[in-house]
Amino acid sequence: MKILALQGSPRPKKYTQMVLDKFLEGVASKGAEFEIIFLAQKKIKPCTGCYHCWFNTPGVCIHKDDMPEILEKMKSSDVWVWATPLYHFGMTAYTKLCLERTMPLVEPFFIETEGVTTHPARFPEQRAKKMVLISVCGFPEVDNFTALVENFRLLCRAGRRDLAGVLLRPGAESMAFIEKLGKKGEEVLQGFFRAGQEIVEKRKISKEAEELVCKEWTKNRVGFREMANLFMTIHLEHAERTRRGEEKRTLEEVLREDMRILLGGMAVTLKPEMAGDLKATIQFDVSGRQAGQWYYEIADGYCAFREGQLDLPTLTIHTPSEVCLAISRGELDGAKAFMEKRYSAEGDLSLLMRLKSLFGPM
Ligand SMILES: Cc1cc2nc3c(=O)[nH]c(=O)nc-3n(C[C@H](O)[C@H](O)[C@H](O)COP(=O)(O)O)c2cc1C
Repeated sequence: MKILALQGSPRPKKYTQMVLDKFLEGVASKGAEFEIIFLAQKKIKPCTGCYHCWFNTPGVCIHKDDMPEILEKMKSSDVWVWATPLYHFGMTAYTKLCLERTMPLVEPFFIETEGVTTHPARFPEQRAKKMVLISVCGFPEVDNFTALVENFRLLCRAGRRDLAGVLLRPGAESMAFIEKLGKKGEEVLQGFFRAGQEIVEKRKISKEAEELVCKEWTKNRVGFREMANLFMTIHLEHAERTRRGEEKRTLEEVLREDMRILLGGMAVTLKPEMAGDLKATIQFDVSGRQAGQWYYEIADGYCAFREGQLDLPTLTIHTPSEVCLAISRGELDGAKAFMEKRYSAEGDLSLLMRLKSLFGPM
C-alpha cells in the first residue's frame, strides 16, 4: 500500500505536521510506504477554468509548474491523505490550489454515481480508492470542522472514493504544551498512530480512533477561553518587550516561567467531582521575581482565576514565585516546602491540604 500525504499547512513544523507524523508512524509500523508533499513549498498556480485539460490537451494542464509531478504521485498511490489546518472553516489555500488542479484527472462527461451526477476518471491506472482527511484547528469545539468534512464527503462521492477516515483535532494550539497535557495528550497522539495502523491493516479508520483524536482537552470551555486569552496577553506583552529590545527570552521560555500561566492553568484543571459543592476563595500573595496578587473563586465545580486582592479569602497562600514554580515543575515537594517554611498559609488550612486532590495534572 502506498500512501500519499498532501500537507497543506504553511507551517511545516506545527500541529498539522505533529499529528500527521504520528499517523504516518502508525502507517510505517505496519510496513506501508508513504510520502509527504508539502504543498506550501510547491509551485502550484491556480486553475484558470480554461478547460484546456479537458478539450484542447486532454489530461494536460496549460500551466508549467510542480502540479504534473504531484498528479503522477497521486495517480500511483492507493490512499490520499489530505492534511490541512482549518482556515476560515475550510481548507487552506495551498490545499485548495492543489485540489482544483486535479481537473486533468477526470473527463468532461457527465455520469451517474450513487444517484448524482459526476465526471468519469480519465486514467484507468488512477489508483487512489480511498481518502483520509486530517485537520487541526484553534477553537476547542469539534463542530468548527463541519463544512470541511462535508466538502470532503462530497469530493469522495464525486470521485467514487471511500472517505476511509476523518481525523480532527480541535484546540490544536494547546499541543505546544503536549507534555503538560499529560495522559490526554498521549491518548490523542496514540489515536493518530492507531489510525495510521488501521488504514494499512483494515483499509478503514475506526470510529474509536476518530473519537479518540478529537476528544476535547477540557469540558471547561470558559476556563479554556480564559487560558487562551491569558496566552494571547503574554504573547502580546512578549512581542512588545522584544520590539523594544527589552526581552531576550523566547516566548516558550517566558510561558514556562509565568505565574499567571501556572495559576491560571491549574484553575482549569479543577475536578468538579472532587470539588462537589465546595464554595471557597484562595488568595495567592506572591512575592519574589513575579510578585503579584491573584485569587481563585471556586463555586459550582468551576474555578475562576482573577487578578487582585480579596477582603476575606477562605485561604491565603504567601509564596515567592520561585517556590511556587519549583513545586509545579516537581523540583520541590509542596508539603516538605511548607514544613520548611518556604511558603506559608493562613485561613482554612484543611483547604490547603485538599489542593492536591482538587486539581488535576495541567
Ligand atoms: C488564516 C487563518 C484562518 C483560521 N481559521 C480558523 C477557523 O476557522 N477555525 C479555527 O478553529 N481555527 C482557525 N485558525 C487557526 C488554525 O486552524 C490553527 O492555528 C492551526 O493549528 C493551524 O495549523 P498548523 O498548526 O499546522 O499551522 C485559523 C488560522 C489562520 C492563520
